[in-house]
Amino acid sequence: MATTVAFTVNGRSVNVAVAYEDTPLLAVLRNELRLMGTRFGCGLEQCGCCTVLIDGKPEKSCMRPLSAVAGRNVVTVEGLGTPDRPHPLQQAFLEEQAGQCGYCLSGILISAKALLDRNPSPTRAEIARALDDNLCRCGTHNRIMRAIEKAAMRMRAGVRA
Ligand code: FES
Ligand code: FES
Repeated sequence: MATTVAFTVNGRSVNVAVAYEDTPLLAVLRNELRLMGTRFGCGLEQCGCCTVLIDGKPEKSCMRPLSAVAGRNVVTVEGLGTPDRPHPLQQAFLEEQAGQCGYCLSGILISAKALLDRNPSPTRAEIARALDDNLCRCGTHNRIMRAIEKAAMRMRAGVRA
């Protein structure tokens, strides 16, 4: 059944009409709102590349119906920073070249942001646990770890996007 859902994305209030109540949030972000940073990988909540923040928590968007975010705050990778003012995580990922194909990175950046928001000084084990649901087929894990540690250090020193 057709429905209209109001929610906030990257600080902007939106009203989106969809033909089916169970249209996935990911499809709306990419196809209706043209926020192409959030990726479609498995479509089965198995790879993590579609991760977004919903009310500050990292959640997969590929199977979540749009109706589940009614009235809630969604943040995608586009909401972290801009090319002129990148989030410290984005800056550190660039400096460490923490990616090869880059397909997984928007989901990983979102999971890392959620981690640093709740734990500014994570250990390596805590970082690994926070990224447990985010697969990277290119195997850039060591660089990703280094980048997150670097961003955490800068954020503790007060650096922001
Ligand atoms: S596309 Fe959502 S978890 Fe893989
Ligand atoms: S950089 Fe290619 S999948 Fe992670």
